[in-house]
Amino acid sequence: MVLPAHGGQPARIAASIGMEAEGRVYDFSANINPIGPQAWLSDQLPRLMKEIANYPDPEYKEAYAALSRQEGMNPEQLLLTNGGAEAIFLIAQLFHGKKALIIDPTFSEYERACRAFDVEITHLQLNQSFRFPVEAMAQRVAEVDVVFLCRPNNPTGTLLSFTELEYLLKLGLETDTTIVIDEAFVHFLFETELSVKKLLAFYPNLIVLRSLTKIFAIPGLRAGYIMAGADWVQKLQKKQPPWSVNGITAGLLPALLSDENFMARTKDWLKGECEKLTENLTALGFIHTVSSVNFYLLKDGNRPNDTEKLFRFLVANNIIPRDTDNFKGLDGRYLRLAVRSADENDYLLQVLKKWRDQPC
Ligand SMILES: Cc1ncc(COP(=O)(O)O)c(C=O)c1O
Repeated sequence: MVLPAHGGQPARIAASIGMEAEGRVYDFSANINPIGPQAWLSDQLPRLMKEIANYPDPEYKEAYAALSRQEGMNPEQLLLTNGGAEAIFLIAQLFHGKKALIIDPTFSEYERACRAFDVEITHLQLNQSFRFPVEAMAQRVAEVDVVFLCRPNNPTGTLLSFTELEYLLKLGLETDTTIVIDEAFVHFLFETELSVKKLLAFYPNLIVLRSLTKIFAIPGLRAGYIMAGADWVQKLQKKQPPWSVNGITAGLLPALLSDENFMARTKDWLKGECEKLTENLTALGFIHTVSSVNFYLLKDGNRPNDTEKLFRFLVANNIIPRDTDNFKGLDGRYLRLAVRSADENDYLLQVLKKWRDQPC
């Protein structure tokens, strides 16, 4: 079966295995916050209609001021991007013709961006329990110019520890190796102090990128940013096309970022649903990653080789999971599922119980 490279395309995912999901479709394939988009967003749109007919402010003054307030960083250390994806491609572009290290399974766009700019890639694998192979990574740091790390990692949801990261950053300082940390899902972490942002002050070889697309559930608008030393930001800015961030996104950013109530509701929802899912999935005999965010990997502990059958069973019940065929090192052995709203997660558990109760 040939499945789309990314989640969030339920009809295409179902069609790719010759099936059609009818009626209500439960999309567990994209890791988008089900609490969003905020209801007030549509009230703001009339005000922002004029942005459609104008070029955005090329300096995005208001958006940068809001981001700078939110992050407690100087605007010179920030670069607004058209989603996390643009950030990845801008960074890869700086390493044109050089060497990169990628730890699989992880987000596929690091590899695509490296290929686009002729960056030679070395791969390492997470270990059996999806921990980072830190000693093997340390050995490779000297051989490459840049390391792409996803933290929390997509698709496993696991985190590289601060101690491990600092170990690699120190090595990187000695060997002139840059460490890029993709924090696309950091806003979902129960404890946001787990962000590596505070290390930026100590390690000039660290670049952090983030997406706002997931947390605010705005994949059609797109928003992201890079946090790094001012010299990095200047270099990246030179590579960025003009008006890369659209005027509607830029106009919404101050209000989005200051909506603390939304962030609090998101954390409450996620904590409650993660606890419920962990308890019920374990009781039903499913193996799943202990994720720190809004998605997890799953396979049937009793039928570990039946993941493709489980995929089809879920689609037949209108649940669209994300297959893991194109995640190197997972090769379809697991499904990735988003943590959705309470009623969607309840439906998923009901269908998984049905799967468990049926004869093999
Ligand atoms: C780890 C990771 N980084 C970056 C991105 C891209 O983010 P955006 O949708 O904001 O471009 C994604 C999207 O799936 C992702 O999973």
